[in-house]
Amino acid sequence: MAKMKALGCFLLITLLFSSFVSTFALINVKALASFTVQSPFQSLPENGDLPKDFEDKGEVKYTFENKRLKTAYIALQAWKKAIYSDPQNFTGNWDGPDVCAYNGVFCAPALDGSHMTVVAGIDLNHGDIAGYLPVELGLLSDIALLHINSNRFCGVVPKSFSKLRLLHELDISNNRFVGPFPKSVLSIPDLKYLDIRFNDFEGELPSELFDMKLDALFLNNNRFSSSIPETLGNSTASIILFANNKFSGCIPSSIGKMSNLQEVIFLNNDLSGCLPPGLGFLGNVSVMDISETIS
Ligand SMILES: *[C@@H]1O[C@H](CO)[C@@H](O)[C@H](O)[C@H]1NC(C)=O
Ligand SMILES: *[C@@H]1O[C@H](CO)[C@@H](O)[C@H](O)[C@H]1NC(C)=O
Repeated sequence: MAKMKALGCFLLITLLFSSFVSTFALINVKALASFTVQSPFQSLPENGDLPKDFEDKGEVKYTFENKRLKTAYIALQAWKKAIYSDPQNFTGNWDGPDVCAYNGVFCAPALDGSHMTVVAGIDLNHGDIAGYLPVELGLLSDIALLHINSNRFCGVVPKSFSKLRLLHELDISNNRFVGPFPKSVLSIPDLKYLDIRFNDFEGELPSELFDMKLDALFLNNNRFSSSIPETLGNSTASIILFANNKFSGCIPSSIGKMSNLQEVIFLNNDLSGCLPPGLGFLGNVSVMDISETIS
């Protein structure tokens, strides 16, 4: 009888203990889940695109004023992780849910009339920051302005940049980007200002570049080579800088169609001596430097 009692007690204790263990395990799993929220994001390829419904997969430990600020938080935290050096501590306050208070991050009412506050612009100019651009930046679908000039960002511009549908100004100049022309920018519908000068981009320019509705295009001081596409004449830009690259061949004769053109600089390339007759029709052009260009 005493034996049975002892066994019963033992069973009870075992049961109690195991339920304690499983409750504890449950709490633990929950705690883990809230701290490892970023883990699905880290597996994204460095230059790739975002999977569909990507932002819905990640859980975040904070609550946000609206869903788009949460999405911006995910993107900005991924970017912070992709920063190797920040000597001025520029991103030092990039913590917590108030993304609108982060240095260099600007919020504004959403343009689509939804009365939401959204991240509308990012300006890290002259930050001297080293790192790369994570795929998650494609989540910042409300930004109209991205200025990161004069930093030490390297690698390539991720494919996900094509998802920045409202972007008007992209300035990634004076960094350490490499690889071919960042084609993801070609499908940004309202891009007006594209500045990629002073990087190490190489290869040829895509012909679609000049079909964009740009106002200003800065390509100078890279390693672009091969000829300038014949589509040049389609460009709506008033200023285009080609200087200090390795462009070869002729200046396309379509340049004569560029009715908005005010300044174009071909300085220091390998273009050969074939000034197109179209040049005479460029009434608005005030500066057209082809010195040291024509051999
Ligand atoms: C960077 O800035 C954060 C927030 O402003 C601060 O807490 C931190 O101590 C700073 N770090 C350094 C190294 O100055
Ligand atoms: C762009 O230019 C090319 C070559 O000059 C021409 O064939 C093409 O139709 C133009 N595209 C647009 C959209 O105007």
